[in-house]
Amino acid sequence: MADNKIVLSGMRPTGKLHLGNFYGALKNWVELQNKYNCYFFVADLHSLTTAYQQTENLAANSEAMLIDWLTAGLDPQKCTIFVQSDVPEISELNTLLGMITPLGWLLRNPTYKEQIQELLKQKYAGQLDEKSLGEKLASIAGDEEISCFGFLGYPVLMATDILIQQATYVPVGKDQTAHLEIARDLSRRFAEIYGQQVFTEPQPLYTTVARVPGIDGRKMSKSYNNAISLGEELDSVRKKVMAMFTDPNKKGAHDPADPEGCVVYAFHKIYNPHSAKRCEECKAGALGCVACKKELFALMEPELAAFSQRRKIFENDKTQLAKIVKEGCARARENAAKTLTQVKRVMRIIH
Ligand code: TRP
Repeated sequence: MADNKIVLSGMRPTGKLHLGNFYGALKNWVELQNKYNCYFFVADLHSLTTAYQQTENLAANSEAMLIDWLTAGLDPQKCTIFVQSDVPEISELNTLLGMITPLGWLLRNPTYKEQIQELLKQKYAGQLDEKSLGEKLASIAGDEEISCFGFLGYPVLMATDILIQQATYVPVGKDQTAHLEIARDLSRRFAEIYGQQVFTEPQPLYTTVARVPGIDGRKMSKSYNNAISLGEELDSVRKKVMAMFTDPNKKGAHDPADPEGCVVYAFHKIYNPHSAKRCEECKAGALGCVACKKELFALMEPELAAFSQRRKIFENDKTQLAKIVKEGCARARENAAKTLTQVKRVMRIIH
């Protein structure tokens, strides 16, 4: 580890991850584990802030996500992997930080407004007009199913995740900026009220990530059925690569074509150091799609093989998986407990 600063990030367990998630976030995590003291956790409590009624797959999704992370190359020897709900210190600090969080901060949070709007629209699709939706949005009680205490308090829980581990850097997408700001504000407010700086002020860690489209050119998504999942069998991926959408105007192998918008080219940009050359060849009509796809698959193969090998190991050895999570949880709890004890001392609630 080059630097012992703490990096922390979490993901809600949404089910199996795909290459889009790998290139969008996980690959960055895998690299960060070599540089910093990293904590990565499954944010299962965060799932409850919206999907508290659908808990039937929560545990299974958490497990699937842990397997995906290990498949992607997170190494429990290098980083700490845990599940949020296994660290009760988080819930305890969440209660304490909730006491000092001004309601206005939460109500003004732009993601809160956007999300609630989105959820209201989904729920009342075609039933309520814009005006009634607006009224629901404006009222603090809003909609009973959607407007819950936990949902409003989402940024407090996220701040707790970060502050309790004393994270310096938080790799997140730009959409999480407002949440991170609340974490920083809370760390300062705590110091102002109790006269002691207990928390490290966290900073976002933005990285430019590669975007991979789904095999049909739309955003890669499980629900579009256009995804390549992490650790998918090689034969299955080969078929998907051969089925990737290309320039529809290219009819024959020797027609010139436009690589922009071609899914195969988007992947070459990630996997092929000579992608610029392939781009020129394609434009000149000197490269057929079949050859181009075959080359791509060959370039992807070593990484895919490593994924699928790791997936098999962890899928077939649940004891090992349980051990990894148990050890990660113990480390996360130990680190969290130190902060919590300090907080309680400063707040004078240790007797
Ligand atoms: N809010 C994040 C998301 O939905 C998940 C998350 C929860 C998180 N706690 C966090 C991310 C702490 C970074 C740090 O994607």
